[in-house]
Amino acid sequence: MPTYQLTVNGRGHSVEVDADTPLLWVLRDTLGLTGTKFGCGQGVCGACTVHLDGQAVKACQTSLKEAAGRTVITVEGLSKDGSHPVQRAWIAEDVAQCGYCQPGMIMTAAALLKRKARPSDHDIDEAFADHVCRCGTYPRVRKAVKRAAG
Ligand code: FES
Repeated sequence: MPTYQLTVNGRGHSVEVDADTPLLWVLRDTLGLTGTKFGCGQGVCGACTVHLDGQAVKACQTSLKEAAGRTVITVEGLSKDGSHPVQRAWIAEDVAQCGYCQPGMIMTAAALLKRKARPSDHDIDEAFADHVCRCGTYPRVRKAVKRAAG
């Protein structure tokens, strides 16, 4: 089996996994980074969102061969100590309820704010359109994104 090089949260990794394996399983099972969650496995819930070269992508829909040679950031790599503005805003607004979908939400928020420093309600709703939160935290997500924008 060929070996693929991945940079995840600033660390280089060589992984020997089938090329078509979803990045989600490489992160969770091969690298032990379980902050990225499995929800639907079909690209519709957003729980598995990570950054690939700075863009929010669904790790369940991204193969290892697509991610190879590129830079991946997971929720574990957003900051070393929870000090990323999005993480701080999430705590301040008490966004999480059960918490399962939140790593993906946080990664989408961080990517949105990189693209757009002051997102409108419409921008936020559009960015989170394909995230599913069964607890219905959407209003707090919107407030936290605005707080993180400053
Ligand atoms: Fe990837 Fe739901 S687990 S979008």
